[in-house]
Amino acid sequence: MSTNSLFQPFQLKSLNIKNRIVMAPMTRSFSPNGVPTADVAAYYRKRAEGEVGLILSEGTVIERVSSSNDANIPHFYGKEALAGWQNVIDGVHAEGGSMGPQIWHMGIMDNHQSGWLPAQPFEGPSGLNRPGFNNGKSMTEQDIADTIAAFGRAAADAKSLGFDCVEIHGAHGYLIDQFFWDATNQRDDIYGGKTLPERSRFAIEVIKEVRKQVGEDFAIIIRLSQFKPAAYTNQLAKTPSEMEAWLNPLADAGVDIFHCSQRRFWEPEFAGSDLNFAGWAKKLSGKATITVGSVGLSGDFFGAFAGESSEPSSLEELMRRLDRGDFDLVAVGRPLLADPHWAQKIRDGKNSELKGFTKAALGELVL
Ligand SMILES: Cc1cc2nc3c(=O)[nH]c(=O)nc-3n(C[C@H](O)[C@H](O)[C@H](O)COP(=O)(O)O)c2cc1C
Repeated sequence: MSTNSLFQPFQLKSLNIKNRIVMAPMTRSFSPNGVPTADVAAYYRKRAEGEVGLILSEGTVIERVSSSNDANIPHFYGKEALAGWQNVIDGVHAEGGSMGPQIWHMGIMDNHQSGWLPAQPFEGPSGLNRPGFNNGKSMTEQDIADTIAAFGRAAADAKSLGFDCVEIHGAHGYLIDQFFWDATNQRDDIYGGKTLPERSRFAIEVIKEVRKQVGEDFAIIIRLSQFKPAAYTNQLAKTPSEMEAWLNPLADAGVDIFHCSQRRFWEPEFAGSDLNFAGWAKKLSGKATITVGSVGLSGDFFGAFAGESSEPSSLEELMRRLDRGDFDLVAVGRPLLADPHWAQKIRDGKNSELKGFTKAALGELVL
């Protein structure tokens, strides 16, 4: 099996990357009081040195009092945190890498196990994180406008610090996704509605503001998922035509790349075709897409949170889909968290040196 097509360059607007491998965004909680440390910078720099084409940062929160549920998750606002991010991007560029921050508002959350709480209640479309679990306030129109502006400021800062692109976190049951999902968006104003395109209004306004702040030539990625941690098999879009009606307005608002989050990239999105989420998104929107989910590993990432290990597995099915043109880029999470040299080992065919993933890797910033 050849992995050559994984190592072809990719260019789109501000993005000029040496290969198709993307480090998936992974929360690490190693940034005390929201400030990325020198260790965090060294961790990302090491992945650039290991020849990852594009690094997406862990989710980093925008300037809203209750955008985070964890004091150790990095901020993407404020002088100190942005100085920390400047170190990160300078280190990545020094190694010839490219990087974008994943800008994030968590929305309605469970309280963190540390006991830390933001100074104001969590905020979301309707106070709900999942059916039957209310843990915050329903946002006013002013809250919504201020949040959209905060996403825009974060994107503008990403550009001025020298990042190569920005990723908006619209997946996994967090704020933007809480607007998408009818179970958590029960609003009866213009941000709610019976259909997914109606409930996409918040996302569209965020994307438009981000586009306005960064200009036409800066690449904007949005990460989306059909599943939620509270609903593994959920489908926001149940058919290709529902998916088209969801994605195309997001593309029109300014998205360049759809980052299509699945737990297992080989799972078909709809009956009757083996195309996965990224495959359908590319076919329906004509935009570039990123696939993700258990690439090169035997088990999925929810298993990892439950303490499960994963063994290395073949890339054959991934290469079949990439070579067929289903998607443009391939995001890899746990293998790169555990091993900065994963991309080089794949390129050089050093399969016996691949490490897989164990829970111990979550406890440190592996260099
Ligand atoms: C420790 C950890 C933290 C994660 N944090 C984020 C995050 O901040 N933002 C996000 O969009 N996804 C997050 N994810 C999901 C990953 O980006 C990725 O989609 C998932 O791990 C599947 O890829 P993998 O099977 O290659 O690990 C996280 C996953 C892990 C294992």
